[in-house]
Amino acid sequence: MDPSRLKQIPLFAKLSDQERRRAAQWADEVDVPAGERLVNQGAFAHEFFVITEGTAEVTKDDERLVELGPGDFFGEMALLEDERRTASVVAKTPMRVVVMFGRDFRTMEHEMPNVAHEIRKEMSARRKRG
Ligand code: CMP
Repeated sequence: MDPSRLKQIPLFAKLSDQERRRAAQWADEVDVPAGERLVNQGAFAHEFFVITEGTAEVTKDDERLVELGPGDFFGEMALLEDERRTASVVAKTPMRVVVMFGRDFRTMEHEMPNVAHEIRKEMSARRKRG
């Protein structure tokens, strides 16, 4: 995807231009229709997502946990720790999301520790909130 799009996303905003060009090679931005299930609770994890437009609903055991919007990411828990998806994520409105495969996400974790730190910090806040 176009590296300049990544500059608009807080998670990637502090990267150097060179890092952003690299991250852009790992990422794709895709359109998602309202109602699409992006993540299925209990499934094995292959992707990490960052929302650029629209709203998603996170549900666990059919209970609504939270809504996520532009700048928010999801899919990190299973990739980093759980292996299987801890919750489901469904598009509430039409969305645009940046998608990264798990293998690239792990490379990013190693090469861009500041990004990894932001993701882990938010992940533990989410776990505390339950
Ligand atoms: P993962 O378990 O991979 O797939 C479901 C995702 O929903 C999870 O990663 C998080 O990104 C997100 N999620 C789960 N629980 C919460 C929560 N309490 N608050 C915000 N997001 C959550």
